[in-house]
Amino acid sequence: MSQAIAEKSATIANLLAAYEGESNAHAKYDFFAAKADAEGWLGAASLFRAAGRAEQLHAANHARVIKQLGGEAHCEIHAVEVKSTLENLKAALAGEQYEVNTMYPGFIAEASAREVASAKRTFTWAMEAEKTHAELFEEAIGIVELRIKESWVGLPCAFYVCATCGYTTRTREEQARCPVCNLSYDKFEVIR
Ligand SMILES: [Fe+2]
Ligand SMILES: [Fe+2]
Repeated sequence: MSQAIAEKSATIANLLAAYEGESNAHAKYDFFAAKADAEGWLGAASLFRAAGRAEQLHAANHARVIKQLGGEAHCEIHAVEVKSTLENLKAALAGEQYEVNTMYPGFIAEASAREVASAKRTFTWAMEAEKTHAELFEEAIGIVELRIKESWVGLPCAFYVCATCGYTTRTREEQARCPVCNLSYDKFEVIR
């Protein structure tokens, strides 16, 4: 291992852990979307697809930085436990909260201490996007608990996903750019 890679090995290990988390979240949300469609929670299915697309973008961003630092992105995809949509939403929320409150803050602190700007940026973008997912999952849980099918969770729903950082929103917002990475809103992906 070269000196430069050895110095960054802790950052690369964190990037690989984040890559694995994002890749598995993407895979898991595909199954959760299918289950939500089957249960008639069509908007929740769209939300899982939108969040899954964002996780895929996060994984790709992390992989790019791993490569820049001399590593190679690889991970295992684990088997998914699919329960009811309400339970799947709660599992998704718990995963997002872990990333927002624990995983990414630790990884950002490590990348900052070592001054690896590219890693700090991809972790920060992902963390900020996960906050939007956590809010949406939390709102959806409340609606599913009340079984309100005449809602964005029950009816087909479009989500806007920033093609760069994965920031996810249900409404096109006033500002012309992504609040996280500054991408122009006209470059957002529409996920249904
Ligand atoms: Fe997420
Ligand atoms: Fe963005």
